[in-house]
Amino acid sequence: MLKYTVFVLLAVIPKSLFQRTMSYEAFFVSVLSSENAFPIDFSNLRVLGRERILNGTFDILEDIDNEHYEFYLEAYTNVARDGNYKKFPMALLRDAVCAVYEKYGFYLRDCVKYGINTDLYINTTTCLIPKGRYYLKNVTINVTNWPVIMSRGLCRHSFTFYKDNVAVGTYNITSSIEDRAVNFRK
Ligand SMILES: *[C@@H]1O[C@H](CO)[C@@H](O)[C@H](O)[C@H]1NC(C)=O
Ligand SMILES: *[C@@H]1O[C@H](CO)[C@@H](O)[C@H](O)[C@H]1NC(C)=O
Ligand SMILES: *[C@@H]1O[C@H](CO)[C@@H](O)[C@H](O)[C@H]1NC(C)=O
Ligand SMILES: *[C@@H]1O[C@H](CO)[C@@H](O)[C@H](O)[C@H]1NC(C)=O
Ligand SMILES: *[C@@H]1O[C@H](CO)[C@@H](O)[C@H](O)[C@H]1NC(C)=O
Repeated sequence: MLKYTVFVLLAVIPKSLFQRTMSYEAFFVSVLSSENAFPIDFSNLRVLGRERILNGTFDILEDIDNEHYEFYLEAYTNVARDGNYKKFPMALLRDAVCAVYEKYGFYLRDCVKYGINTDLYINTTTCLIPKGRYYLKNVTINVTNWPVIMSRGLCRHSFTFYKDNVAVGTYNITSSIEDRAVNFRK
C-alpha cells in the first residue's frame, strides 16, 4: 500500500518539485526597529500584498565600517503565534559587520540581489557600507539555504548594531513559516 502511494505521488508531482524544495515557505510579517535606531532607518519599508514582499527605501545614516561597527544576531520562535517569543539557541557571536557579511551574507544575497532588488552594492574588499538612500523592491524570503526542518509559526530575527561597543539600534524582522503550498500548475 505504501509503495503504491509513493508511486502515485511520484507520478503526480511535477518534476520541478524535485529540485531542492523545502516543506515550508517563509513570508515577511513585519520589519520593526527600536526608537531612533542607528545606523539604518527602516521606517520607509513596507510588507506589501498577498506575496508579502518587502518594498520601499531605507537610509544608511552614516558609513558602516568594520572598525566601528559590530553586528549581533538573535533568533526567536513563536510556534503558537501569540506574541510569546522564545529565544532560539544559536551560536552566532557578536562580530565585525564585514566578517558577519562574509560568513552569512549568502542568506541575504539569496533574497536581495544587487541590481534587481536593491541598488546597494556591498564591496567586501573595502568592507564599507556607504551612507545613502537605497531601494528594496520585490524582496521575498528565499529559504533555499535555511535548515531543512523548521517549526511552523512565527520566526523573528533580531539584529543589533554596536558602534564602538555601544548598542545603537535593534531591528526585528518577523516572518511566518508555513507549509509549502503545492502548486500543480508549475
Ligand atoms: C524585538 O523582539 C524581541 C523578542 O520578541 C523583543 O524583546 C524586542 O522588544 C523587540 N524589539 C523591537 C525594537 O521591536
Ligand atoms: C516598491 O519600492 C520601489 C522602490 O522604492 C517603488 O518605486 C515602488 O513604487 C514600490 N512599489 C509599491 C507597490 O509600493
Ligand atoms: C534562492 O536562492 C538560491 C540559492 O542561492 C538561488 O539559486 C535561487 O535562484 C534563489 N531564488 C530566487 C527566487 O531568487
Ligand atoms: C571594491 O573595492 C576595491 C578596493 O577599493 C576596488 O579595487 C574594487 O574595484 C571594488 N570592486 C567593485 C566591484 O567595485
Ligand atoms: C518578483 O520576484 C519574483 C521571484 O522572486 C518574480 O517571479 C517576479 O517576476 C518579480 N516581480 C517583479 C515585478 O519584478
